[in-house]
Amino acid sequence: MIVRFSRRYTFSASHRLHVEALTVEQNREAFGKCNNPHGHGHNYVLQVTVSGPVDSATGMVLNMATLDAVVRAVVLDRFDHQNLNHDSLFAAQTSTTENLCLEIYSLLATALAPVSLRSVRIEETENNFFEYSGTSLASASHAA
Ligand code: NI
Repeated sequence: MIVRFSRRYTFSASHRLHVEALTVEQNREAFGKCNNPHGHGHNYVLQVTVSGPVDSATGMVLNMATLDAVVRAVVLDRFDHQNLNHDSLFAAQTSTTENLCLEIYSLLATALAPVSLRSVRIEETENNFFEYSGTSLASASHAA
């Protein structure tokens, strides 16, 4: 019996959406005010979901303190109060929340293994949410 456990974290960071290869007009067209040269900030809400069997001794899927320590070390200490564009992860790709979601998923999946990371969801604003659940089981088995 597999149970999912989700926990919410918050961090604040700034960024600017800009692609060097595009012209000033193309960048403005693609990113609007998010292309502002001075950047802007977000109070991101990160939701991490892991899953697994309930440990018979503890009654838990994963110790909350363990999850907190991993998220702090891998995500919060790295991105909180930082400019995302200065991080090496965004040297060659835009710091959109889509890309941030993919990168955080990858960082956490590695750090949490062998615990199963089910999804990473990031709220960028009250109205914008992004979620990544990794490669689907269907396409993974198809590839294999
Ligand atoms: Ni933004």
